Amino acid sequence: MRVLVCGGAGYIGSHTVIQLLAAHHDVLIVDSFVNAKPAVISRLESITGEHVPVHAFDLRDVERTEHLFAHERIDAIIHFAGHKAVGESVTEPLKYYENNLGSTFSLIRAMERHGVTKLVFSSSATVYGASAAVPMNEDFPTSATNPYGWTKVMIEQILRDVAQARPGWRIAVLRYFNPVGAHRSGTIGEDPSGIPNNLLPYISQVAVGRLDKLRIFGDDYETPDGTALRDYIHVEDLAAGHVAALARLNSTDTAVSTWNLGTGAGSSVFEMLHAFERAVGRSLPFEVVGRRAGDIAASYADPGRAHAELGWKAVRTIDDMCVDSWRWQSQNPNGYPEA
Ligand code: NAD
Ligand code: WQD
Repeated sequence: MRVLVCGGAGYIGSHTVIQLLAAHHDVLIVDSFVNAKPAVISRLESITGEHVPVHAFDLRDVERTEHLFAHERIDAIIHFAGHKAVGESVTEPLKYYENNLGSTFSLIRAMERHGVTKLVFSSSATVYGASAAVPMNEDFPTSATNPYGWTKVMIEQILRDVAQARPGWRIAVLRYFNPVGAHRSGTIGEDPSGIPNNLLPYISQVAVGRLDKLRIFGDDYETPDGTALRDYIHVEDLAAGHVAALARLNSTDTAVSTWNLGTGAGSSVFEMLHAFERAVGRSLPFEVVGRRAGDIAASYADPGRAHAELGWKAVRTIDDMCVDSWRWQSQNPNGYPEA
């Protein structure tokens, strides 16, 4: 298939592009580079040995989007493009609603005009809101605790409404748990701007000496070691889930399919810290501080539906995740070079 990868220069998008090409799909990328560096493209090309066409514009630009759809054959779309920082979404809610919803509206309109009927959407376990029950399955009610999360809940609803009104459309809603790790080459990986919010990028920057110590947000949860449990999933496993979902859209009769992409296991903050220490080969400084507002004790997937319907399963361990994160961070201490 010829796949338009929106947000394909970003963290998960870039890893997915590699696996799409390996599965003999044609790929074209749209990315505004609002949260990506151009250097990722040449690295993608070195890894895959293929030219990857890139269209650098904001998907909310309806004219540019129309021009692209009018001039390129597109069989399916994977839509990663959007803002994703939970904390920033609280202080800049409109930025999140405008970009995440606006880019989706522009894409869906172009799909309608040009007869494109297949879409894979990046949703998130954040749509399970403050649910205290684990493992989380796709039939749990959805809600959110911040504007970023609401954009995912809203887009999921919009996609269900559109699919119902457009017979023949096939949409995959993929709910990712906690994506971590990097490509095994160590040449592409996660490159957050500013101080990282997420655990693994934070530990990586402590390990490489950019940050002084990890602050563990709470050790008084009702979990085995008191720190919160999350379902960390290797980005290469996650990328494989997209290839499987895309294949499934060709054969399913279901208009909108929703699949959790997680391992099914919860790991604690201490377990992740110790796995990272094994990868680095030394202990890392940390301090336990108070809980972070909005955090829940445990979040992990029931990945059974994706196993059954996609034949997909996450296979990489937390040690694999930390070894690959560390290879990327140690080879690229300051992330991608500036343009
Ligand atoms: P990312 O920021 O690395 O990638 C998103 C890409 O989209 C970036 O390259 C950015 O430049 C681009 N982009 C943003 N707005 C755009 C627009 N209007 N037009 C064109 N390009 C635009 O993020 P990621 O971690 O790769 O996440 C990809 C998707 O997965 C996002 O939708 C995110 O919400 C979702 N997700 C991420 C996580 C996570 O922890 N990383 C977890 C669950 C869901
Ligand atoms: C993991 C654990 C922290 C940083 C977020 C989004 C979610 C999804 C994935 C997009 C928690 C603890 C963290 C630190 C710490 N993204 N921690 N010290 O919060 O599970 O999920 O990313 O959809 O929507 O909310 O991930 O990596 O921030 O935190 O102790 O410096 O690590 O308290 O228990 P989270 P995270």
